[in-house]
Amino acid sequence: MALFNRRNFIRTGLLTGTGAALSTGNLSAKPAEKTLNEIGKSKWELDSPALCVDLDKLEKNIATAQSGAKAMGIGVRPHIKTHKCPAIAHRQLKAGAIGVCAAKLGESIVMLENGIENVLMTGVNVTVPKINRAMEYRKKYAGFIQAVDSPQNARDLNDAAKAMGIVADVVVDLDVIKRSGIPNGPQALALAQLVDKLPNLKFRGILAYDGMNQHVKGFQNRRVAALKNYEPVVESYNLMKAAGLNLEIFSGGGTGTYNIMGEVNGFTDVQVGSYVFMDLQYMQAGGKNNEKVYDDFESSLTVLTTVINTNFPGRITTDAGSKALTLNKPNPFVIGEPGFDYAAGSDEYGMISYTSINKSYKIGDKLELIIPHCDPAVNEYDVMYGTRNDKVVEILPILGRGKGA
Ligand SMILES: Cc1ncc(COP(=O)(O)O)c(C=O)c1O
Repeated sequence: MALFNRRNFIRTGLLTGTGAALSTGNLSAKPAEKTLNEIGKSKWELDSPALCVDLDKLEKNIATAQSGAKAMGIGVRPHIKTHKCPAIAHRQLKAGAIGVCAAKLGESIVMLENGIENVLMTGVNVTVPKINRAMEYRKKYAGFIQAVDSPQNARDLNDAAKAMGIVADVVVDLDVIKRSGIPNGPQALALAQLVDKLPNLKFRGILAYDGMNQHVKGFQNRRVAALKNYEPVVESYNLMKAAGLNLEIFSGGGTGTYNIMGEVNGFTDVQVGSYVFMDLQYMQAGGKNNEKVYDDFESSLTVLTTVINTNFPGRITTDAGSKALTLNKPNPFVIGEPGFDYAAGSDEYGMISYTSINKSYKIGDKLELIIPHCDPAVNEYDVMYGTRNDKVVEILPILGRGKGA
C-alpha cells in the first residue's frame, strides 16, 4: 500500500467527491490511508472500536455555548483538553470563541502549530525543560499565555523569558478546586503584583477553574454552589482591581456553568470543554430546562464496537474494553438497549450482561456506545470519524492525543 502523502490525500478527497475531507490546519498530520478510505461509507461499516462524532450535533453544541455565553455578556474560551483536535478548535473559533485553553504544553504546541493563534495554557510549567520550551513557543507565537501559581515559578518564568529575549504573557491561577492555584486573598494579590513587576512577564489577569461545581446535580443547586465557591476568587479579583492591576482576563467555569458564570463580577470568559461531545457523567447533572438530563448539549461522541462472542445466554462480549473506553463510571450506555449493563473493566473486551434485550445479536453486529467520560477516551484514538446522518464525511485527526507532557 502506498504511503500517505499530501498528493494521495488530495486525490483521495477528490475521488470520493467530498472536497476537503481531512480537517486540520496542518497537512503534516498523517492519518493512515485506511481511515481516509472510509469517507463516504456508512459509519456502521467502520472497523471497531471506532470513535465517531456526529458533526451536526457537535456544531449545534458549539453554537449553543456561544449564544448562551453571549446572552450573559461573557466570551467562550473552549478547553481543547476534551477533543485535542485542531479541526474542532478551528470550528470553535469560527463560531466566535476568543481563543482556546490547553491543559499541557504538548497540547498547546499542537494547537499553535496548527493555526490556533490564541492559546491559554491552564496548567503550570515547572520543570526546566518545559519552561524553556514554553518560552521558545512564546517567542514564536505571541498569542501563547501561560499560568503561574507560585512566586518561585513566576521568577523562573521571568528568568527564562529574559534569556529568550521576550516578555511572556502570564495569568495567575487561583485556588478553587483544591488541586492547583494560589490561595485567594493577600497571597493571590501578592503573586499578581510580583508578576506585574517582573520585567520579562506581562500580567494579563486570572484563571480559576471550579471543577467540583460542574457536575452538581440540578441547575439551581449548581448555580448556588458555583457562586458560593467563587466568592474567594471574587475577593481576589476585587483586591487586584483595587490595586490597579490589569484584569483583562478572568477565565474559568466549564460546561456545567456556561450559563451561570456571567453572574460573577468581572468574569470575562468560560472554559467549556466537554460541551462539544457531552458524556454520561455530564448528562446526569441535569440542566436548566430538564432537571434529570443535562440536555442543553447533545451527545455527539460515540464509540462503535463489534459483538465478538454470543456463546453464553444472558451475556455478550464486544471488542471495546478499558483501552477503548477508559474506566470511568457510570458504565457505557448502549444506544437502543437500556437493559444492557456494559462493563468495560477488561482491557480489550466489553462484557455485557442484560436483563432485557430488544433484538438478538450475532457475531459481527455493531453496537454504539455513549461513553462515561469523553476526555480520557478521546486520548485513546488517532482519529475521530466525523459523520452526518450516519455517513462518514470527514476524518478528524486527534493530533494532541498522548501529548500529556
Ligand atoms: C482548567 C480547566 N478548565 C476547563 C475545563 C473544562 O471543563 P468541562 O469539561 O467541565 O467543560 C477543565 C476540565 O477539566 C479544566 O481542567
